[in-house]
Amino acid sequence: MANSVILHIFKKQSSKILQDAIVNLILWLTEFITESMQDKINDIHQQIADFTISNKEQLEAFRIAYVGRKGVIGDLFDELKNVAQEERRAVGQSLNSLKEAAQVKFNEFQALMEASTEKSVAIEFDLTLPNVPFENGSIHPLTLVRARIIEIFAKMGFNVSDGPEIESDFYNFTALNFAENHPAREMQDTFFIEKKGGNVADDMLLRTHTSNVQIRLMQNQKPPLRSIMPGRVYRNEAISARAHCLFHQVEGLYVDKNVGFKDLKDTLYYFAKEMFGQDTKVRYRPSYFPFTEPSAEIDITCLICKGKGCNVCKYSGWVEIAGSGMVDPNVLEQCGIDSQEYTGFAFGMGIERITMLKYQIKDLRLFTENDVRFLRQFEGL
Ligand code: PHE
Repeated sequence: MANSVILHIFKKQSSKILQDAIVNLILWLTEFITESMQDKINDIHQQIADFTISNKEQLEAFRIAYVGRKGVIGDLFDELKNVAQEERRAVGQSLNSLKEAAQVKFNEFQALMEASTEKSVAIEFDLTLPNVPFENGSIHPLTLVRARIIEIFAKMGFNVSDGPEIESDFYNFTALNFAENHPAREMQDTFFIEKKGGNVADDMLLRTHTSNVQIRLMQNQKPPLRSIMPGRVYRNEAISARAHCLFHQVEGLYVDKNVGFKDLKDTLYYFAKEMFGQDTKVRYRPSYFPFTEPSAEIDITCLICKGKGCNVCKYSGWVEIAGSGMVDPNVLEQCGIDSQEYTGFAFGMGIERITMLKYQIKDLRLFTENDVRFLRQFEGL
């Protein structure tokens, strides 16, 4: 454009000789510009041909320099307007083929990069390597024993009930006949969550036994009731081989007309033999619980020494497995059950204790440590 304006002015105003000289000069200049454009194009062709890449960053650098709008080729397109009109077509064409060459090279690089990533992925998943062993988990021994306990009681017509672990004092103590200042509240080393300051029955705590479910059951259902309550319970105990602040219980409740102590004995007698073997002997020892009267502790013959005496049974030949008793009439009445018409028995046992006796596990902490070497030992059961 500029060239043609200058030409136009000189054609009008100068002498023929000067005109010719100037025209020649302009043509030469134009040719110079065009040539230098062509040189640049050739140069870039060479750069593209020489370019090598070995990573994604270099691929991107190539794209920015030669393919992107703001790269060197884009600049040349901007400069195209300065090229003499006669040459512009030719230069434009060679610029276009430069652009195409850059694109072709870029596509090649990209394919190369993709192939090499695929290759490294293939190496990561080398199918000729031996398989990573697929580890089958096993059922936790406490889960196993709980399932077995449920199974045994189910055969005698007991269903399974559940209730809250965060409980009010009422369901954990008061409704179970614990007097307001009963030392059992301390004796049981309870984790209180909230002391309301008023009626103790309103205090909130972590249940110390699953007896709370018995109360809820008796409040909500009419006898006959025949149910067991497995679940987690909490007591503020120092953790050792024999004690933990968290453990599991299964309690049981049977309320109906004419339920007697004989039914309690027979039920737990059957349970002990099913659980520990038919030659297991069972004995009932008088005991005390605020919610049962009479109460009894249940012992079985020591599984290790078969009653001869060893360090597990402290040389007595017997080990304790459960607490039990006839439901105190006060407890029945509290729950709206007529104690003249109905009687019942209840029992409670620790799942950890039963499991330790059954599988001769010496340390309570093993149950919660999640050591697979321990857990694997129960794989086949
Ligand atoms: N609740 C008692 C405990 O936690 C066990 C028990 C249940 C005793 C039912 C008698 C009757 O130790």
